[in-house]
Amino acid sequence: MKPIVVTAEDCYALRSTVLRPNQPKENWTFDTDGDKRALHMALQDDNADIVAIVSILPESHVDCEGCPWRLRSMAVREDLHGHGLGSILITAVLGKLHEGVWCTARKHVEGFYLKHGFNTVGEEFTMNNMPHVRMMKTLNPSQSGDA
Ligand SMILES: CC(C)(COP(=O)(O)OP(=O)(O)OC[C@H]1O[C@@H](n2cnc3c(N)ncnc32)[C@H](O)[C@@H]1OP(=O)(O)O)[C@@H](O)C(=O)NCCC(=O)NCCS
Repeated sequence: MKPIVVTAEDCYALRSTVLRPNQPKENWTFDTDGDKRALHMALQDDNADIVAIVSILPESHVDCEGCPWRLRSMAVREDLHGHGLGSILITAVLGKLHEGVWCTARKHVEGFYLKHGFNTVGEEFTMNNMPHVRMMKTLNPSQSGDA
């Protein structure tokens, strides 16, 4: 599957089902979703259904120096987990960046982000009743992409 650039609205279905089931829309939409610098990417299956999503939003964090981008809402449709789709998509979106990126990762998927070059910053914390870690990935100039 080839990663494509989509709109935030294209990501809503998977955000609301995979990441925030039974939660109100304000919990899975973000102030910067419509920012002209935001980048939303997805994978589509043969029926043109979106089966994986990720968003890169302009937002820094005090603990993540050199990372002006925040990765949010990384999700793969549940029946397709573990088949490499998340890797295809995160590799594609990271390849578009020329500056560092951070994210707030659910603790149980920390290993996924570690495999993609993120490092854990600070201690585990609880958010939305789930353990989380903050993670960041800085890019060397030689690794820079085209965006
Ligand atoms: C996390 C998620 C995006 C990963 O996508 P995926 O398509 O299932 O992952 P992949 O098949 O591409 O796996 C890539 C690698 O990461 C590893 N990995 C995947 N999920 C992992 C997890 N939860 N913990 C540790 N490692 C994980 C895989 O073992 C694989 O390693 P390998 O290359 O050595 O085989 C997906 O499982 C998902 O949508 N989960 C539910 C939503 C979620 O928690 N999103 C993250 C919010 S912070």
